[in-house]
Parts: sequence; structure tokens; C-alpha cells
Amino acid sequence: MKNTVVVGAQWGDEGKAKITDLLAQNADVIIRYQGGCNAGHTVVVDNKTFKFHLIPSGILYKNKICIIGPGTVIHPESFEKELNGLIEEGIDVSNLKISPLASITMPYHIEIDGYSESNAGKGKIGTTKKGIGPTYTDKYARIGLKIQDLYSAETLSEKLDIILPLKNKQLEKVYGLEPYSKECITALCEKYAELFKPYVCFEWQDLLREHKKDTILFEGAQGVMLDVDYGTYPFVTSSNPIGGGAATGSGYGPRMIDEVIGVSKAYVTRVGEGPFVTELNDETGDKIREIGHEFGVTTGRPRRCGWFDAVIMKYAVLVGGLTSIALTKIDVFDSFDEIKVCTAYKDTRNGQIYTSYPTDVFIHKYLEPIYETHAGWGVDITKIKEYDKLPENAKKYLERLEELLECPISIISVGPDREQTIIK
Ligand code: GDP
Ligand code: IMO
Ligand code: MG
Repeated sequence: MKNTVVVGAQWGDEGKAKITDLLAQNADVIIRYQGGCNAGHTVVVDNKTFKFHLIPSGILYKNKICIIGPGTVIHPESFEKELNGLIEEGIDVSNLKISPLASITMPYHIEIDGYSESNAGKGKIGTTKKGIGPTYTDKYARIGLKIQDLYSAETLSEKLDIILPLKNKQLEKVYGLEPYSKECITALCEKYAELFKPYVCFEWQDLLREHKKDTILFEGAQGVMLDVDYGTYPFVTSSNPIGGGAATGSGYGPRMIDEVIGVSKAYVTRVGEGPFVTELNDETGDKIREIGHEFGVTTGRPRRCGWFDAVIMKYAVLVGGLTSIALTKIDVFDSFDEIKVCTAYKDTRNGQIYTSYPTDVFIHKYLEPIYETHAGWGVDITKIKEYDKLPENAKKYLERLEELLECPISIISVGPDREQTIIK
């Protein structure tokens, strides 16, 4: 296998973890490059379900180096819970490495996220309330704490003298929240230092050099349409899930990336607020949610469901840098007579047709999808292992998607289990 990035091509929850898990078999190093515990990643092996938030799912394999990369944000309490859960399951976590450059989500980041969501009115984003936005805000405002700061009392003290006066003013005056004393944060950081100590890889540069000739798998979270630069801004997350994000968030530059696999469902889902042109607020949407078990892994929220949208997918191929697509959950359509695909949007105000994705999301309320309809296949495809054995209508549907997206579909997933996969 070549060095590969796994990217969500829609609004997250596309089945990235299943594809990462599949590809991890042939990788030596798996690096999570952005996001935090806002992610909810499900892997099913032999009917056993594992749920990940921040720890790379590659940890299920022995002898694979799994790195929580520099571009991620780590909420210590959530990390501890996830780690302990894996240990209780008997998973060997000794190959887990944390980048000293990763950012820390502090308690005030969670409080600010909660406050902002409760007070944003129409601007509510529907975040996971895991403090993601406020942690990245501080990172880019250059007042964030990194994992490495936990291991130098002098550095931590100097940084807190800069950060806390600013942060406390903000907490009190802007958000009406309680300030934090230096003693309190220092004590918390001492606790965090102990928690992370067995996993922090201070020799990360040597580690990356050592594995430069090995196979690297870059594990993305969220998806292209949630990317802070290219997604449905402001209804996005605060990091760069796109293929390019792997180069900034992993410690390996762009020349180390050979392939970018975009994971997409055969339909579209979204959790949280924001535009969604092909959303189905009807029985068909309910049917997709029910058959596809579309409920969030992290928050349990029902996912909004809609037909496949080739406009956003073509956009994802472009800005996500995709070299091929892994199409998941096609089995969800086994009992459907008809399957629709959106090929363009029509502006109901003036009849304008969009085949390229319109990036001003505030006009999306005026857009309606233009669909083409495909006949269903009416048989159970969940046990099929070879492309040629798929029903003709399923193959026609897949070929039409490749034509519309101008991108090959390299993997077809017909069920949640590692084994329920067709490699094309
Ligand atoms: P991720 O965040 O992209 O890793 O995806 P999630 O784990 O949040 O959601 C994907 C859900 O779909 C999980 O419950 C998976 O077990 C499940 N899943 C993945 N691929 C398939 C598939 O091909 N068919 C079906 N029926 N379920 C799938
Ligand atoms: P995985 O990796 C789906 C959504 C939230 C919200 C927006 C911003 O499992 O695909 P945040 O907490 O990041 O500030 O929330 O992004 N969101 C996700 N939606 N899957 C995810 O991760 C998501 N992570 C964040 O619902 O709309
Ligand atoms: Mg998910």
C-alpha cells in the first residue's frame, strides 16, 4: 500500500473508521492529524463494535505505531475515558504515541463552547460541545497550551502568566463565567502530565524519520464539508479535515502523501446545524435513518439524512484532493425501489443552475436539488465480496457516480464489518 490519507468527503460519519481499519492492516504507522474527541469512529470486527474518538483505530492491531498528531486537540478527561475503555477491552495500547505539539482542551474551552452554543441564537452551530472551536481559537490566537508545556514547570508558569490574565478577562467580561487561578490550572496540568506521560513521544522527530520509508496511513476526522476553510462555513468544525490537512497536522509534509481516499456514504447525513440541500424531512429520510442506524456516536443525536449530492462530492474531490472514493452504506438501499442522485442545484429565485458548489451558504435556503432517478436492485448485497457479483443496477449506479464525480470508486462497503468490503 502507498501512503494514504483517509478523508471524510461529506459532513462526517461517512464510515472513515471502517476504511481506516481496513487499510491499517497494510500500514506501519497510523496518524490522526486533526480534530479532537468531537469525532466518533466505529469499527466492527467479528461482530464486536469499537468506538473511537481521538485514539487512532489502528490501535486494534498489534505492532502498529499509532500517533495522535500535532494538528489535534486533546481533552484530557475524554482521552482518559477512551484509553481506559480500550484497556478494559484488553487492547494493547503500548504503541500509542502523543505528539508533544498537540493542543490541550482546557475546562474553560468546554465552558465557552457551551456558552456560545446556548447564546448564539440563529447562529447556533450545533457543536459537539467538546471545546473544539475555543481550543483551536486559542491555538491560532497563540495563547494555547500544548502537551509539551506540561513537562516544564518554568515554561508552563511563563505561559500561564501570559494566558490567564487574557483568558480570565474574557471568561468574566464576555461570557460571565468564573475565572481560573494559576494555582488551580497548574494543579490540573500536573494531573494531565501524569496521565499523558506514558504516551508522549518527545523523540517524535526521530520516530518520524525512522518510519519515513514505511507505510503511513493518515487518519482524518470530520469531513470536507466541515472543513474550516472549504466547508459550509460558519457551520463547520475548526480544523482542516481535507487531504492537505494531513500534511500540516501530521509532521510529514505533502510529498509523503501518495493517495487520498475520500469516504462517502451512498447518501448524505449531517449532525448539527447548517445547510443541506438534499435533506429529506419525510418518510424516505426516516427510512434511511432507520436502516442506516443514523445516530451520532459522540452525542447520540439523530443524523439528518438526504439523497447523494454529486455537487458537494465533486467539490470534495477537488478541494479534498481525492484520488479515489470509498463508497459506504450502499447496502442501506437494498430495499429501495428508487434511488436519487442530485446532479445540480436550482436557485428558486431566478432559475439559475449550479453544477459547481456555491460557497455562499446563506443562499442555500433558496436552492432546490435537481435529481436523476436510478432503479434499485431489491436484493441483499451485504455478503457480496466481489464487484462482478453485485446486481447490475448497483453496478450501473456506481458507474454513474464515478462518471459524475470524475473520480474512481476504489472501495465499496456493503456492511459495517471489516469483512463486508469490496475492493475494486
Ligand atoms: P466515521 O465517523 O466516518 O468513522 O463514521 P461513524 O462511525 O460515525 O458512522 C458510520 C456508521 O456506519 C458506523 O456505525 C459504522 O459501523 C457503519 N458503517 C460503516 N460502513 C458501513 C456500510 O457499508 N454499511 C452499513 N450498513 N453500515 C456501515
Ligand atoms: P466524525 O470524525 C459528524 C459537527 C458538529 C457540528 C460541527 C461543529 O465522527 O466524522 P465541533 O464540535 O467540531 O465544533 O462541531 O461539526 N461535527 C461532526 N459531525 N461527524 C463528526 O466527526 C463531527 N465532528 C464535528 O455536529 O455541526
Ligand atoms: Mg463519526
